[in-house]
Amino acid sequence: MYLIAPSILSADFARLGEEVADVVASGADWIHFDVMDNHYVPNMTIGPVVCQAIRPVTQATIDVHLMVKPVDRLIVDFAKAGANVITFHPEASEHIDRSLSLIREHGCQAGLVFNPATPLQHMDYVMDKLDLVLLMGVNPGFGGQKFIPSTLTKLDDARVRVKAHGQETGRRIRVEIDGGVKVDNIAAIALAGADTFVAGSAIYHAGQDRDPHRYDSVIAAMRAELARVR
Ligand code: DX5
Ligand code: ZN
Repeated sequence: MYLIAPSILSADFARLGEEVADVVASGADWIHFDVMDNHYVPNMTIGPVVCQAIRPVTQATIDVHLMVKPVDRLIVDFAKAGANVITFHPEASEHIDRSLSLIREHGCQAGLVFNPATPLQHMDYVMDKLDLVLLMGVNPGFGGQKFIPSTLTKLDDARVRVKAHGQETGRRIRVEIDGGVKVDNIAAIALAGADTFVAGSAIYHAGQDRDPHRYDSVIAAMRAELARVR
């Protein structure tokens, strides 16, 4: 039930295909794909052409995290480029319900992303259109930042909401966490309510050489920590 989603933001972009294939061979479940526009966040990364380029490299779910404003145009482009999951920040869409519908109409799973100071209330009236919610453990824009501890309380709040929805409707909404996830805090984060774990620097900075199995031990260490939780 726990999924590990390495963020390619911390991968070696000069050899991105290999970085994707190797991390999946090492046991990753999803590939987390961070899209930044130097407008919604103060950094700039990769777009739909890169998603299209890595799509044939893996069968794994490509989890596109849009840190862009506006979002609707790129939703369509990423769906066409092979994304499976698309999430966006409620502050970046003028019409949250419409953007969620657009993602689902294009055959992808849809989610909202909550910055550390963004209230979870944004999910209240769109629960039926959410496949996941993503809580940021850091302010978005960069890899390698420190996990903000108050996120643990917020995760618990998110878990209560999705559990109530699950009991009413039978639908499962995943609770994903992004930012500052490491081997030494993943168990506490799972205990607080997350079931899907994005980790960029913790995974991609663990592989020193070009051994195809360079990510095995860090992912195994995360799974061992998660196995202690339930
Ligand atoms: C931050 C990105 C994250 C980032 C996480 O804005 O959304 O996905 O890659 O990096 P780490 O795991 O290094 O905090
Ligand atoms: Zn992300």
